[in-house]
Amino acid sequence: MGNSAQERSLPYVPDCYVVPPSCEPRDALDSNSEVVPTIDVSRLRGAVDERRGVIQELSFACQHFGFFQIVNHGINQNILDDALAVANNFFELPAKEKKKFMTNDVYAPVRYSTSLKDGLDKIQFWRIFLKHYAHPLHRWIHLWPENPPEYREKMGKFCEDVRKLSLEILGAITESLGLGRDYLSSRMNENGMQVMAVNCYPPCPDPETALGLPPHSDYSCITILLQNMTGLEILDPMGHGGSGRWVLVPEVKGVLKVHIGDHVEVLSNGLYKSVIHKVTLNEKKTRISLASLHSLGMDEKMSVPNQLVNDENPVRYRESSFNDFLDFLVSNDISQGDRFIDTF
Ligand code: SIN
Ligand code: FE2
Repeated sequence: MGNSAQERSLPYVPDCYVVPPSCEPRDALDSNSEVVPTIDVSRLRGAVDERRGVIQELSFACQHFGFFQIVNHGINQNILDDALAVANNFFELPAKEKKKFMTNDVYAPVRYSTSLKDGLDKIQFWRIFLKHYAHPLHRWIHLWPENPPEYREKMGKFCEDVRKLSLEILGAITESLGLGRDYLSSRMNENGMQVMAVNCYPPCPDPETALGLPPHSDYSCITILLQNMTGLEILDPMGHGGSGRWVLVPEVKGVLKVHIGDHVEVLSNGLYKSVIHKVTLNEKKTRISLASLHSLGMDEKMSVPNQLVNDENPVRYRESSFNDFLDFLVSNDISQGDRFIDTF
């Protein structure tokens, strides 16, 4: 770690980065806006009818894709650009500076690494990341990198705005399930977790053989993602003839992406699906992404609400917390993209 193949800019891909055929990088359908749902979230703040319409669109996207793009979200373009710029500047710092945050401890509130479990993962991925807790901001920000000097201010602003947006979207999601707008946000206001994954995918000499991240779903309620270029692919479960198909998510400036995570799948008792996604690489360019994961508090269990259970719909999922997930990470090899959530 730290002397990773990426940082030494190797002209070839070492064997430990070569992914098995089941994870093959290059089989995606180039996306167009018809494939990936796009939702104008400003309409959530509009008249009752308008809000109802958006909630229907959102419910459709959650059931069929577990993923959607959002426009008119209200976060200023400068805030998005600045957050991507400070993330990029962090990764360009000398290794010595970044190593201050290097740890293999998945419970650490600030963590710089190149793999889930360095030295133990069977397959390595072509990604360097900095993860840090972000809510409540005042509790964590002093642990974040001091360099680059603008990191805390610019990333902090982005985190605050994205968190507000996440509560608004979660309100629409719970409303769409008939649980009311505050079902989750009332539990998340004080103690909800926000984990910011700041990802860097350096150019890869052979993008056909390695992956930035293997197919996985996020262990969150929702994840809000900002990227500087394409690379994210989602599994469209309907695909062609219902067989499932990888779709490359397009990059349009200012558009944010929302992943439905495992905990909304649990909350909806399986009506909404967490999206399976992976990250492919580019031969020439460095991709930066900021993934903001929003969940209940560390030890709070997500379970299926009684309102969604009846004779035809028995409880399908076991309850679990974010901490349970971290325990699972430590004791399992998930480098090939296993899912954590447990069904009955
Ligand atoms: C993630 O899966 O959390 C990151 C995805 C990305 O880099 O686009
Ligand atoms: Fe993810």
